[in-house]
Amino acid sequence: MNILFASSEAVPFIKSGGLADVAGALTKAVRNRGHACRVVLPLYDQIPDEMRAGMKFITYFNTPLAWRNQYCGIFEKTEKNVKYYFLDNEYYFKRGNIYGFYDDAERFAFFSRAVLEMINHIDFIPDIIHCNDWQTALIPVYLESLYGLNDRFRNIKTVFTIHNVAYQGAFDTSVMQYVLGLPESANHIVEYNGACNYMKGAIEQCDALTTVSPTYAGELMDSWFAHGLDPLLQTKEHKLRGILNGIDTKSYDPSTDPALTKNYSVQNLKHKAPNKAALQEEMGLAVDPAPVLIGMVTRLASHKGLDLVTAAFEQIMELPVQLVVLGTGEAQYQDFLREQADNYPGRMSVYIGFDEGLARKAYAGADVFLMPSQSEPCGLSQMIAMRYGAIPIVRLTGGLADSVHDFGGEGGNGYTFARYDPWDMLDAIKRAQSDYQNPDLWQEQVKAAIQCDFSWSRSAGEYIGLYQQLMGLHDDR
Ligand code: GLC
Repeated sequence: MNILFASSEAVPFIKSGGLADVAGALTKAVRNRGHACRVVLPLYDQIPDEMRAGMKFITYFNTPLAWRNQYCGIFEKTEKNVKYYFLDNEYYFKRGNIYGFYDDAERFAFFSRAVLEMINHIDFIPDIIHCNDWQTALIPVYLESLYGLNDRFRNIKTVFTIHNVAYQGAFDTSVMQYVLGLPESANHIVEYNGACNYMKGAIEQCDALTTVSPTYAGELMDSWFAHGLDPLLQTKEHKLRGILNGIDTKSYDPSTDPALTKNYSVQNLKHKAPNKAALQEEMGLAVDPAPVLIGMVTRLASHKGLDLVTAAFEQIMELPVQLVVLGTGEAQYQDFLREQADNYPGRMSVYIGFDEGLARKAYAGADVFLMPSQSEPCGLSQMIAMRYGAIPIVRLTGGLADSVHDFGGEGGNGYTFARYDPWDMLDAIKRAQSDYQNPDLWQEQVKAAIQCDFSWSRSAGEYIGLYQQLMGLHDDR
């Protein structure tokens, strides 16, 4: 099968969140199963020079966008067996950031339209275009309304994956006329609740709709989670499927990870201890194996559950624990955490920013990993934490509910709580702290977590099955 994976970010070229990890790892897994899987990305200014080395210019073409006709260059580069295309237009992509501009509606309408135009200029006709989040949501809409009769495009099927329904790409309706350039009869496809909503268009037009965990697929039917799209999603439930993400277990491997002070695996878990000491030292905490070291690597946003942490903060710190938080985000949380680091010197420490190496050290050094999200479509950090033997404490929502099971039941690999409530979270932390006093029990629990399999092999098979189903092929996973 020929699969073109359209994304606004992908590891190792450009990353702002979990979508980049999925784009980098899923495509590699699909490719390794013998399918021609290629990726297309915008050629952002932020892609580092060393990743640009070896990019080859293929050709250029013009992309129509309402009254505009914009230059688009195509570059290509093969990374770990997967061919990447990069679409170049400096006006749109040579900016100080990858998202967050007044004309994001235009920038990603351009990208989506250019992905389709590109197919006229490369030696690859996809059977499937797999689109992700609002930035590529117009691809199924353009395909259906402008390209469907063309021979090269006639048989292409589309998959659209919702990584987070909170970000829909909803803009003023004037975008329809001044930016999109759809036939007027097609404007209703993107119109929703008085806005021009890109994600809504994809949900309408895609051949298959997926999201990143089975529990989140169910939650999307509910107005508490769906940010206004629930009435529409309820009518599309028949084509929606939740497929749990995996992680790149080669890249995230404590037995080889060069960022760690000492490598370890389930066979020599005692080598995890020097990583705890190193993290304590680097973060300015008392170097001491006795307190439970709680780690958090997170965006500092309310849906990540930061309000529970701030509400129960004093009570958490009354326990014999240390806390390390790495992340950036909303000023109120940054300020709160900085202040607490001053209040609890040697016991609480915060790094505002994103540093991949330090994040890996935190997974390796922490005893437990706290992720009390209000909503979490999938979540990758809890899986990485388990891979590094840091036991997760999570709220049961979305992919957290599908990947973490409480030690109280069968197949336990973490601590869970159900209600979005600071005291229920505190209870789970207390249970972890109390179990930590029993080294034999703790060792068994760390083993249970570290041995969980979150590799992409299972989920890649599910996507391949879906692609085959769309093409009317026998599912031969
Ligand atoms: C989004 C979601 C996160 C998910 C990631 C990859 O960032 O918020 O839960 O893991 O996408 O699908």
